[in-house]
Amino acid sequence: MAYSQQALKEQVAKAAVEYILPLLSPTAVVGVGTGSTADLFIDELAKHKQQFKAAVASSERSAKRLADHGILVLDLNEVESMPVYVDGADEINAQLQMIKGGGGALTREKMVASVAERFVCIVDESKLVERLGAFKLPIEVLPMAINSVSRQIEKLGGVARQRVGFITDNGNPIIDVEGFSVEDARELESTINQIPGVVCCGFFALSPATIMIIGTQEGVKQLS
Ligand code: 5RP
Repeated sequence: MAYSQQALKEQVAKAAVEYILPLLSPTAVVGVGTGSTADLFIDELAKHKQQFKAAVASSERSAKRLADHGILVLDLNEVESMPVYVDGADEINAQLQMIKGGGGALTREKMVASVAERFVCIVDESKLVERLGAFKLPIEVLPMAINSVSRQIEKLGGVARQRVGFITDNGNPIIDVEGFSVEDARELESTINQIPGVVCCGFFALSPATIMIIGTQEGVKQLS
């Protein structure tokens, strides 16, 4: 019998908690991502809430779920270091470069991840790709820069559309870009980062994950 996508997500959430347990201590703060896989990770993590001090969340959604479990949620400004950040992805390749932001939390995800020593990416096997770019690339932009950024994106070969009815936790719109031929995600991430008005682009290639925990029909695997 084949495992459902939900079952694979549950398996990686459990495996991620097993992976991070040796990294926890009474003073440790855990970085927590956003999305349906991250939600399952939060639920598993809560079973071990006596083994760490607090969490930093990458979204209001995850902060609420953590708090509902009785886990102390700290602001990123209160934290100097974290042993680990755990999050899902929309796409990930064998170099552990990702596209993230399907849930719109990319900016906070990138910030929280940057403070952590390790990024543990938890995905089911549908997220594993040879080349990034089939998933529309999310870019958070300042409101007055929607059109100017979109024009710059078109010069780079992409087609940008504003995500309808969506505003990030930071109060900004998102544009989703399709049509990029992504040969070098690091270079494209750097280029997009330099467009005035871009808050954050959904490539996580300049700072990829440290390890991927992937749920497959043959069981949970790790790649680092
Ligand atoms: C949110 C993200 C998520 O990690 C990504 O969208 C994957 O979500 P899910 O675990 O629900 O498939 O980047 O901004």
